[in-house]
Amino acid sequence: MRISIVSVALGIFLAGSCAQAAEVTYANVRPILEKRCVGCHARGEIGPMPLGAYAEVRPWAKAIRAAVISKAMPPWHAAPGSAHAFLNDRSMTRGEIDTLVKWVDAGSPDGPAVQARSHAIREPGGWRLGDPDLVLRVPGVQIPKSGILQYSFVIFPLHFDHDVWVRAAEWHIDQRGQVHHMNAFVREPGSSYLADFPKNEIFTPTVAERGKKRSDEAVFARRQLLQGYEPGYAPMPWLPDGAKLIKAGSDVIFEMHFNTNGKEAVDHTELGLYLSPAAPLNRVVAVDTLRDLDLAIPPASANYMSNASMKLGSPARLLSIQPHMHVRGKSMEVRAIYPDGRKEVLLSVPKYDFNWQTTYAIKNPPLMPTGTVLESVAGYDNSPNNKFNPDPAATVGWGDQTTSEMHIAFLELVVDAKADVEKLLTVQPKMIGTPAGR
Ligand code: HEC
Repeated sequence: MRISIVSVALGIFLAGSCAQAAEVTYANVRPILEKRCVGCHARGEIGPMPLGAYAEVRPWAKAIRAAVISKAMPPWHAAPGSAHAFLNDRSMTRGEIDTLVKWVDAGSPDGPAVQARSHAIREPGGWRLGDPDLVLRVPGVQIPKSGILQYSFVIFPLHFDHDVWVRAAEWHIDQRGQVHHMNAFVREPGSSYLADFPKNEIFTPTVAERGKKRSDEAVFARRQLLQGYEPGYAPMPWLPDGAKLIKAGSDVIFEMHFNTNGKEAVDHTELGLYLSPAAPLNRVVAVDTLRDLDLAIPPASANYMSNASMKLGSPARLLSIQPHMHVRGKSMEVRAIYPDGRKEVLLSVPKYDFNWQTTYAIKNPPLMPTGTVLESVAGYDNSPNNKFNPDPAATVGWGDQTTSEMHIAFLELVVDAKADVEKLLTVQPKMIGTPAGR
């Protein structure tokens, strides 16, 4: 075993394994890597090594074989069988896996040159979605060598004199190794969200200051998520005929959470915005209210379950779902119960992985009439068997840091561009039933 690893590292072919090389060559493998891997495995992307040219792929052949058989790569954690197919489904077909495996087993032979599609690959420092219309740049966050960091913020006073529609947004993350997450919010004029803080500079409010709000404040009037970034993020336009709204006079606020990793750094992350030339037919809104704030995971509990639900107060189409938990998160299922009683499993992530906070984009966003209930069920492992568990002796509740937990299914909903979005959530989110396992 050791010998074969060394020979892979040196790129040496084992004698004899070239014998069956004729059928599957790099020419067969290249389009699969293009389609399934190169989006991340290119210079400047999140994959640790580029998988473009033969010479780049060859030394990784055995590792690629293992990764596709175990389904560790490409990262995709949705179980098959959801009611609606996903636009960004990264899972490979049986045939694709077989081709890769056969190629490696045949000694990973080169083959006739194949034309690489270039559209998935961007220049280092370039934008995947093309040149943005507007770039918001973090003025520089000092990240210390060590310690636990609170969320920091910066307010960009855009203050457009008219409503602006954003059809896509792309993050350029600067200190990839230290960015835990980023959220860009739109704050409409009159919002109480972080109202007492200065503009254009970094600040670190307390949790109470972040939460301070007027008692009568409507959900979307306070803040709206424009775009989030978590590990595994890939930029995607929302819809051909839909966009997010930045109302005249609004600010954009970045919420930034950094991890420390022994190195000091200064972060200058950027968010590129792509604007719609005209008002679109549909408005896309992000919702974070499908969540359970009452988590109380007992010490050593291996299978704690938490439920959350919300009811739509007006019709919407469901564009995407992003399960969010921390390191004790084990599974999440999101379902719809339609007013006629029909039930659908929208997303099932049986083996949740904190390192892959994937947004699952639905290919043909289903229409959910008024009264549709959305529910999510999250499972947690607070036992010592969970190798990521920082403290199995703790009772774990809701909190920002990864030592605490969260249960949110972030949703993106599509509504008529002229609809009153506050009506979407007129039926306040509440728990339905009693969570199992308490
Ligand atoms: C969504 C982005 C993404 C896609 C798509 C993706 N990878 Fe990866 N890959 C990563 C990242 C990030 C890592 C490093 C972290 C890890 O190992 O989980 C990685 C690690 C790997 C490794 C392990 C490298 C090592 O250091 O041992 C292999 C092998 C690999 N990928 C192969 C593939 C193959 C083959 C495909 C396509 C079939 C693919 N990946 C698709 C992001 C991706």
